[in-house]
Amino acid sequence: MFKITVIPGDGIGTEVIQSAVEILETLNTKFDFVYQDAGKDCYDKCGTNLPSDTIESCRISDATLFGAVTSIPQQKSAIVTLRRELDLYVNQRPIRSYEKEDINFTIIRENSEGLYANIEEDHGDECIATRKITYNGCERIIKYAFEYANKTNRKRVTASHKANVLPVTDGIFKDTFYNIAEAYKNIESDDYYIDATAMYLITKPEYFEVIVTTNLFGDILSDEAAGVVGSLGLLPSANIGDETGLFEPVHGSAPDIAGKNKANPIATILSSALMLEYLGINNEAELVNNAVEDVIKEGKVKTPDLGGNHNTNDITTAILQKM
Ligand code: NAI
Ligand code: MG
Repeated sequence: MFKITVIPGDGIGTEVIQSAVEILETLNTKFDFVYQDAGKDCYDKCGTNLPSDTIESCRISDATLFGAVTSIPQQKSAIVTLRRELDLYVNQRPIRSYEKEDINFTIIRENSEGLYANIEEDHGDECIATRKITYNGCERIIKYAFEYANKTNRKRVTASHKANVLPVTDGIFKDTFYNIAEAYKNIESDDYYIDATAMYLITKPEYFEVIVTTNLFGDILSDEAAGVVGSLGLLPSANIGDETGLFEPVHGSAPDIAGKNKANPIATILSSALMLEYLGINNEAELVNNAVEDVIKEGKVKTPDLGGNHNTNDITTAILQKM
């Protein structure tokens, strides 16, 4: 029995989490789901967008399944704080097109520092955000990227940075990348500036195998990658540290479609499959992944983001039927 903290959050977070839990409940593996609050509704109810009980529950669970939270002006982001509190330094985002088989790469985003280190100061007319880059932070994420490439039989790791304009912070990132690459001679290594990477994601997405980058750049590149493969509603992610893991869709709480049963639950269902892999339940992860692939390739049941007119429940039911 695995103990799983479930944080539905706000907006479509609650809808897509319900789909994922429904699917997990049909598996042979049994889960003890512990529901916890975070986000805007939580803030309105209890004055904080991330209660300490929620953090503690994640800490003592085998893993966490997270929906999405709506941001609140002047409040620190609940998900960014949670990732940092749990030291989930890896954000692994597999990008896959079901239409073009050769678009299949993974963004490995540093998840604990960079511009999201939460160091912002307001000095009146001058406001400063600090971009914190550490040797240890670079080393652990870059090593993870090469190990990931080895494990998943990828032939190349590409670093993406802006070392021409940020020679100190991104200089460390780039140098560390090539130092670590020395130990992985079987894997090609190269690098692009982040702006060029953004263009190449459009002009030659099939080139990429593993991209490793810093926090903000990885955040932006992954939404762009969602556009390349068709929808934010398709992209899952794994936040991984040495102690635990948190699994969530790449998308946010989508207030524009919240409460309408229109959200695509696939990103969250695929995130739950990443969680199953993390827990070592590979056969059931494969069962879920294959069912999703069948439904997408068949193309009969689609939410509006993919050009269809089916709802969240229809997709969930179609996936359950395939399973
Ligand atoms: P968003 O990802 O919520 O939505 C962007 C666009 O994609 C919207 O048009 C939305 O309808 C669409 N979309 C997103 N997920 C979808 C799905 N599963 N199915 C179909 N369409 C989908 O980003 P946005 O609008 O910039 O932010 C909305 C709120 O979410 C903000 O408060 C933001 O701070 C928060 N946010 C939270 C995140 C998290 O909790 N990890 C991540 C990103 C944003
Ligand atoms: Mg994002």
